[in-house]
Amino acid sequence: MKIGEFDLGNKLILAPMADISDKSFRKIAKDFGVGLTFTQMVSAEGVLKNNFETLRYLSFSRQEKPIGVQILGNDPDIIGEAVSEIEKFNPDVIDLNSGCSVSKVTKNSFGASLLESPNLLAQIIKRMKLSSKKTPISVKFRLGKDKNNVNILENAKIAEENGADYIVIHCRTRADKYDVDAQWEWVKKTKNVLSIPVVANGSLFEPQELFRVKKNYNADNLMIARGAIGNPFIFSRYNSIVENNFDPGEPDVDSVYKAILAHIQYIREDYGDDIGIQKIKKHIVWYFKNFVGIETILEKIFSLSKFSEVFEFLEEHVFKIKNNKYKLLNNIDVQKLFIEKINFWELGVEK
Ligand SMILES: Cc1cc2nc3c(=O)[nH]c(=O)nc-3n(C[C@H](O)[C@H](O)[C@H](O)COP(=O)(O)O)c2cc1C
Repeated sequence: MKIGEFDLGNKLILAPMADISDKSFRKIAKDFGVGLTFTQMVSAEGVLKNNFETLRYLSFSRQEKPIGVQILGNDPDIIGEAVSEIEKFNPDVIDLNSGCSVSKVTKNSFGASLLESPNLLAQIIKRMKLSSKKTPISVKFRLGKDKNNVNILENAKIAEENGADYIVIHCRTRADKYDVDAQWEWVKKTKNVLSIPVVANGSLFEPQELFRVKKNYNADNLMIARGAIGNPFIFSRYNSIVENNFDPGEPDVDSVYKAILAHIQYIREDYGDDIGIQKIKKHIVWYFKNFVGIETILEKIFSLSKFSEVFEFLEEHVFKIKNNKYKLLNNIDVQKLFIEKINFWELGVEK
């Protein structure tokens, strides 16, 4: 798939994820072969006000390219001006968030609220295109407001007519949140009415599923969100299948250990130790979620306050996994702990 001048080939796209897709997360994904990453959403207004946090979310290094910036807002003029500012950072694409359904976004009529305002959507995309001199524009949609108001075909047409270079469809409605299966047929239907590329997104966790969706629904590319959390291996596995027709399978504990150590190093470089220690803990849980002993991580990791303790803990943890020191245990309790402590989106808790 081509995005402007840049050819993504068959490589995958990492989704924008608030509180997750920071520089270190993107770097790890890149080490493992992702084709394009995104910053987490940045508020158009925040960009114009030079808000410190917004600029931090927006910043990326040259080595991170290709990278996209995702913008959030609903005022065509403000968004247009913000696009001009963002373009100075030289990203490879600027994406409009038209799919985020969390209430702190939709209460301001941003994100998925735009799905219900086709005229406004048209104005925003047109303005983005006018403001961006050279950077391609994309729009990330959900299917519509709810199952009785699926309007992705109309919205996708609007995007194309007003200059979007491609669109992404998270194949659920705003009301679905994460509670129903992705409805992939809409990718195919949308492809039939558009000439720009369509990227499919939603619950893509396993390489086999990725290939199935891409082929059966004619997706030009795939965007991975939760499937990449604690699992950058999804990118290397996918690439290995594409390039060598070989699936290396689930990573073993040594590969996971190596990946989290690299992730830790990136987090320390990016945030320093005081903030970095807080940021890394949830990632450690995610990386080890498929191994025995996960309950020990969930119980202990949050009380550690220094990286030296984290390293000591991890070394011992990996030793115990490899030497069968942990017992398999009641999965339901682990699942509960996991949702309470880590997977905040499943509780509707917004960070
Ligand atoms: C923690 C978290 C943060 C997210 N933040 C954003 C965001 O900033 N912008 C956006 O368009 N979507 C955001 N999303 C939605 C994802 O990009 C993606 O569309 C959605 O999770 C479906 O893909 P998945 O099933 O592969 O996770 C977020 C999702 C999660 C889980």
